Amino acid sequence: MKASSRMGSLEATLQARLAQRESQGRLRHLEIPRPDLVDFSSNDYLSLSQDLVLRNALITYLNGLEKKALSFSSNRRAIGSGGSRLLDGNSAFCEYLEHKLSGFHSSEAALLFNSAYDANIGLISCVPGTRDVILYDSLIHASIHDGMRLSRATKKIHFEHSSIIQDTGRSSVWGDSDQQVRCGESNVFICVEALYSMDGDITDLEYVSNVVKALLPRGNGYIIVDEAHSIGILGDGGRGLVCQLGLQDQVWARVIGFGKAMGSAGGAVLCSSVARLYLINYARTLIYTTAMSFLSLASISAAYDYMTSGEADKRRKQLTMLIQYCHDKFKSLDQRLRPSAALLRMPRSPPRSPIIPLFTSYPKSLARHCQISKFMIRAIVAPTVPKGQERVRICLHASNTIEQVDGLCRAIETWLGLLKTERDARTTKHNQGGATTEADSQESLLGNMKASL
Ligand SMILES: Cc1ncc(COP(=O)(O)O)c(C=O)c1O
Repeated sequence: MKASSRMGSLEATLQARLAQRESQGRLRHLEIPRPDLVDFSSNDYLSLSQDLVLRNALITYLNGLEKKALSFSSNRRAIGSGGSRLLDGNSAFCEYLEHKLSGFHSSEAALLFNSAYDANIGLISCVPGTRDVILYDSLIHASIHDGMRLSRATKKIHFEHSSIIQDTGRSSVWGDSDQQVRCGESNVFICVEALYSMDGDITDLEYVSNVVKALLPRGNGYIIVDEAHSIGILGDGGRGLVCQLGLQDQVWARVIGFGKAMGSAGGAVLCSSVARLYLINYARTLIYTTAMSFLSLASISAAYDYMTSGEADKRRKQLTMLIQYCHDKFKSLDQRLRPSAALLRMPRSPPRSPIIPLFTSYPKSLARHCQISKFMIRAIVAPTVPKGQERVRICLHASNTIEQVDGLCRAIETWLGLLKTERDARTTKHNQGGATTEADSQESLLGNMKASL
């Protein structure tokens, strides 16, 4: 990247930062996903975003609503909402959908946000007060971090992923807030995700709930569960982890998202009626933004109708079968080839979700190889995941087939073979006195891969 000579100093600064990012191999670009690649990457776990039954249901739904003279849309706006929920953007349809959500997920109330990102920021930024403490899992999503940055709470403590007790067992965990927390004057908000999107693991929520009860016997511990990745997949009918475990009364608030398994977009907070009213008054990501369009509301509503239909159950069943099949294939590949840990580490225990991480020190090379072989998987590198935990993330979908999973495994196996050949050649060259660098190796590896495909 070259800075233009006519560029102002701000532009030059931005350009320099981007150049630095590029030199570290971390420059991001927008890409249009290629339709000819098999999707092992998106969060569309149930493949609903492309489902014809759902698409037709949405069209019928919209037509039906129109015939009823948009009785639901009290402001008669059939496309955009016209403003913030607090001004002209509210509608009977919005409130109808919130009732539908709270009924489906067994919560007292629900409040829609434009995204789960907005829902997390709105909730976390306005609820904890100055004397309160936020305790969060170290792998928690960026939106909770951003909410914490805006929050008035001064004490934010992270615990190692899924290890709340080890870290919080220390008596001084609350630091200078210790006394206030112990006597119940300060509240503690405990933030976890139901299903972690990078590791595919599921929080042991019963355990978290028990720890919170034991640590905070005065009842000043409030659990917040981000269910962005778990609704549609976990629990009866896709109601999520909290419902699956019957922990609705132990969890203070849930954040759900419609952009993943639900095949749509948007988010909501499931909470008490009091908390809902508080958010309406204080959550800036609700107040200072245009409410969701009528079309978005309709697509979410249609997705929930789909959830209660037998179709969604069939899709979940297919997904469960694929998860097991894929794990078995990976396991047998691992046993046959025994790759070194730097090359490829497969999860040992069977996955409990459609997200399967394959750890490797060469995530970009593996992702690129699979993409050239027509399978869309992505490299996940630091800072999205901690350094040393680089990986490719395999996401399975209800519309994937056994043949596609077989093809992906073959691609991974070919990549491992190429890497081994490359390494052997490098060792031979080295033994013969020639110098090779890691860069040479990666370069020629990519060259070999292109030639072999
Ligand atoms: C755990 C988690 N929470 C919240 C979000 C935000 O969801 P949305 O895409 O609806 O803004 C994401 C999205 O990636 C997520 O992974």
